[in-house]
Amino acid sequence: MSAPGKDAAGAGSARAAGSARPLAARPPGAGLRGELSIPGDKSISHRALIFGALAVGRTEITGLLEGEDVLRTAAAMRALGARVTRTGPGAWQVDGLGVGGLMEPDDILDFGNAGTGVRLCMGLVAGHPITAFFTGDASLRRRPMGRVLDPLMAFGAEVFAGARGLRLPLGLRGAEAPRPADITLTVPSAQVKSAILLAGLAAPGITSLVEPVPTRDHTERLLRHFGAELDIQPLPRGGHRIALRGQPELRPARVAVPGDPSSAAFPLVAALLVPGSELRLRHVLVNPGRIGLLTTLTEMGADITLVNPREEGGEPVADLVVRASRLRGVPVPAERAPSMIDEYPILAIAAALAEGETRMEGLGELRVKESDRLAVMETGLRAAGVSVEAGPDSLTVRGTGPAGRPRGGARIATHLDHRIAMSFLVLGLVSEAGMEVDDGTMIATSFPGFEGLMREVGAEIGGLT
Ligand code: S3P
Repeated sequence: MSAPGKDAAGAGSARAAGSARPLAARPPGAGLRGELSIPGDKSISHRALIFGALAVGRTEITGLLEGEDVLRTAAAMRALGARVTRTGPGAWQVDGLGVGGLMEPDDILDFGNAGTGVRLCMGLVAGHPITAFFTGDASLRRRPMGRVLDPLMAFGAEVFAGARGLRLPLGLRGAEAPRPADITLTVPSAQVKSAILLAGLAAPGITSLVEPVPTRDHTERLLRHFGAELDIQPLPRGGHRIALRGQPELRPARVAVPGDPSSAAFPLVAALLVPGSELRLRHVLVNPGRIGLLTTLTEMGADITLVNPREEGGEPVADLVVRASRLRGVPVPAERAPSMIDEYPILAIAAALAEGETRMEGLGELRVKESDRLAVMETGLRAAGVSVEAGPDSLTVRGTGPAGRPRGGARIATHLDHRIAMSFLVLGLVSEAGMEVDDGTMIATSFPGFEGLMREVGAEIGGLT
């Protein structure tokens, strides 16, 4: 594909020269049509491997997301002593060692780009009498780790950090005799919640945790699936009190990983925006803690139908049928943020073509994701000619409405952020001059095969020649 335009957001080139792979997208001649199988859910994939390592015996996983992030967790489980074997596409076996049975790794655990992987593994290590050192790529090394390490110290774990404070690289000595803790989350983060529950598994007695704001509950669901004892009480103003009995013998389980709604979001929004589109996205997770984007898009006038809703492996799943729609801007309330926290970049793209204003609030957490997503979305949308404004924790986008489309014609600096790359490629499908991103390699962290799948249904996305 030829380059559509000028370098409009060049600061902070993504990767070392030579390894980046710029991509471009431009409007296709016809609507996107067909059926897609969405790769496995990233959150559940990490957790399936981790709980497999903590169970006594063999866990069988199907539909595992074979993206870079999850492969790092698989490698970490091996380094901690579990046997992890790939038996076919998406099919993995984990021979676990039991709670308390993990072994000290003999090298640094490198989690690449994966915030979920590293934070959950910190929880694991905190409950074991072992020491581990953690690092990651430039993006992960910038992200805050204090939010997870502070509560883990309550179990008796000890942190070794350098002058940069609680950021990678750092070391963690797990507790010799972990004590159960009573913790209230101060950030609405399922990663922090999960790390605490993983540490609590190794402590005798009851670990209790209050999450004032509900966050994704895959850890709780999988804990039960693997046989842990968990009491979950709703709080009057939302949120939960969770009590976990420590030192259970987790039994191995079968885990069928459904498609990731956070990945489905990209073809879904593309189909809403490219005129004449109709896509069926098969086997997508529709856990209530993950469908804030579907709720918001429906309020915006999107034509999305959930077909054949069913329950699989303790999680609700459905096929999504989506047709091109005229969208209108809506206010998106702050309370909805945890249920769509990874979807704001692509929602902002939908908002850029909607009629009127979309104001998204409660987005402070977006500043500490794989990139500062508020800043990067603001810069990129503006470079593409979209009217946008970011506040400290909000984003307001004024869309073109059905009569127009954004100018596009810009190259976006993705800052090692897979979701920024995919979002602006979707914008490229519906902007006058197309769009480029400086690097598409990070897409493989969560959505391997994105380019090919999108092309299969008619999208014009490809490498630059
Ligand atoms: C995740 C939780 C979210 C999300 C991340 C995956 C998880 O992060 O952004 O992509 O699997 O628990 P926070 O828990 O920090 O909000």
